[in-house]
Amino acid sequence: MPKALIVYGTRTGTAGITAQEIARTLEEQGVSTRVVNAKEGKVDSVAEYDIVIVGSGIQIGRWTGEPESFLKKFQRDLAGKRVALYVNCGSAAEAMNPGKPEVAANARRDYLEAKAAKYDLAPIGLGFFGAIYNFNKMSWIMRKGMEQERPKLAAAYKETEPGVYDTRDVEGIRNWARSLLPK
Ligand SMILES: Cc1cc2nc3c(=O)[nH]c(=O)nc-3n(C[C@H](O)[C@H](O)[C@H](O)COP(=O)(O)O)c2cc1C
Repeated sequence: MPKALIVYGTRTGTAGITAQEIARTLEEQGVSTRVVNAKEGKVDSVAEYDIVIVGSGIQIGRWTGEPESFLKKFQRDLAGKRVALYVNCGSAAEAMNPGKPEVAANARRDYLEAKAAKYDLAPIGLGFFGAIYNFNKMSWIMRKGMEQERPKLAAAYKETEPGVYDTRDVEGIRNWARSLLPK
């Protein structure tokens, strides 16, 4: 049975929820998966994995530190593997930036393509996924800023729980995960 490792970093949970969705999808395809929150779990080796997926949520243009440390630590081992990267970010929520396709294009370049280049990786997939905005968990200052965006969010996306807006295309995430498997 092929094995996949999914390592993620998150600040508010989105990249972890996405990691679980990717894992569930791969498991359905007969892949054995291990999901690691890079802040809590430790990976000693990637030798046993056929696919390694590394992801992060984005704040102020940056990945979290832990999955980046993982990429640095295993850079050489990852060079010979099927590797994929993903991010969860607001820039991927197209309805939040109407008529500005450059927002998503620039973010994809900065958060994914540049990261792959930095660690000399040739990923088999770059997953560019939307954000989850949780008004219950935001700092006071963030909520103040986001309240202005809330009508736009509410018009375009589902409120999955009171105050929680999921801008991710979950079927898109599942299709992406399946695309990582050899044909
Ligand atoms: C303080 C803050 C800063 C953010 N900065 C960015 C950003 O620079 N670019 C972007 O596309 N999204 C940005 N976002 C949206 C997040 O990427 C989004 O909420 C994502 O779901 C976070 O993932 P996480 O929960 O895994 O950390 C920001 C969100 C917050 C709360």
